Amino acid sequence: MSDEVSQLADEGVARVAAAADLDALHELELELLGKRSRLTAVKATMRDLDPEQRKTVGAALNAARTRLEEAVTGRRTELESAARRVQLEAERLDLTEHLGRATVGHAHPITQTWERLEDVFVGMGYRVADGPEVETDWFNFEALNLPPSHPARSLWDTLYLDPAGLDGVAAEQLLLRTHTSPVQARTMLAAVRDGWGPPIYVVCPGRVYRRDTADATHLPVFHQVEGLVVDRGITMGDLSGTIETFTKAYFGADLTSRMRPSYFPFTEPSAEFDISGPDGEWLELGGCGMVHPNVLRSCGLDPEEWTGFAFGFGIDRLAKVRHHVEDLRDFITNDQRFLEQF
Ligand code: PHE
Repeated sequence: MSDEVSQLADEGVARVAAAADLDALHELELELLGKRSRLTAVKATMRDLDPEQRKTVGAALNAARTRLEEAVTGRRTELESAARRVQLEAERLDLTEHLGRATVGHAHPITQTWERLEDVFVGMGYRVADGPEVETDWFNFEALNLPPSHPARSLWDTLYLDPAGLDGVAAEQLLLRTHTSPVQARTMLAAVRDGWGPPIYVVCPGRVYRRDTADATHLPVFHQVEGLVVDRGITMGDLSGTIETFTKAYFGADLTSRMRPSYFPFTEPSAEFDISGPDGEWLELGGCGMVHPNVLRSCGLDPEEWTGFAFGFGIDRLAKVRHHVEDLRDFITNDQRFLEQF
C-alpha cells in the first residue's frame, strides 16, 4: 500500500507541475489533498491494518501529503509571478519610446549667435532695441547724413518697395532696410521724445536686406547687430575698448581686435574693425565710428553736449567665423545634417 501512496504522490506532483493556471491548480489541490482525495480514502482504510503496517502506511501518507503540498505551493508561486509579469507587461508605459524617433530641436545657429551677442552686451549694461524691416528712406539714409543724391548711397544695394504696388498708401519712399543703422535714429528720437536718455547704450540686432546674389560670403537677407552709445565725453578710446571687450567675451581671451580707418557718412571718424582669426589672420567684421554731429542733430541732440559711437556688423558672418562654416548659404538651406551640428 505504501507503494501505491508514493505512486500517487509521484503522479500528483507531475500533474501539479503541469497545472496551466491558478484556477486549474486550485482544482487539482482539492482533488489531490481534499476530503475526497485518494490520500484521504487511503487514510480511512488504515484502521483495518495491523499496527506495523499502519506505521509504514502512515509515514508514506505523511510524506506524500508533504510532497504534494510543497509542489502546490511551488507551482502557485510560479504561476503568480508569471501572472504578475503578464500584467506588468500589459500596463507598461514606455516613456522613452518617442526619444528614438523624433529628435529634439534646438535654436538655429544664427539665433544662437544673436542671443549670445545680446547676452554679452546686456552684461555690459546695454539695452536691446529694435525697429521695422520696412523703413522709410529718411531713417535708412537721410537721418544718417545721406541726403537723396549722396554718392555714398551706392554703398548699399537697396531694394525699394514699389509705391504703385502700395496703392499710394505710402507718402514716403519705402525700402527694405539695408542695415540696422536706422535703429540708431529711431532710438535717439524715442529717447528724446520719451525722456529716458541720453545717456543711451543700446544694441539692435535684426534682419537686413541687400540687392545681392547669394554666394559663399553674401546673402541678400542677412543679420546685423548695431551698437549705439550716446553720453557725455565719449571718445574713440571707448569705442575701441568696447569692441575689444566684446571680442574677448564672445570669442575668448586669446583673440583680439583692431580698427582700420574707413568711411561711413554717419560716423566721423570712421573705421572698420577686424578680429584676429584662429590662425592669426585678420577677419573683417564690421564698421564703426564716432556718431556724426549731423546725425545727432537730425535726432534732436546737441553735438556740443553729447558725443557717441556706433558700430555695426554681420551676425551671420560672426557665426561663420566662430563655427568655421565655409559657405554662408549653409545657414539658409535647412539641411538637417548641417543644423544638427550646432
Ligand atoms: N551700417 C554700416 C553697414 O551696414 C555699419 C556701421 C554701423 C558703420 C555703425 C558705422 C557705424 O555697413
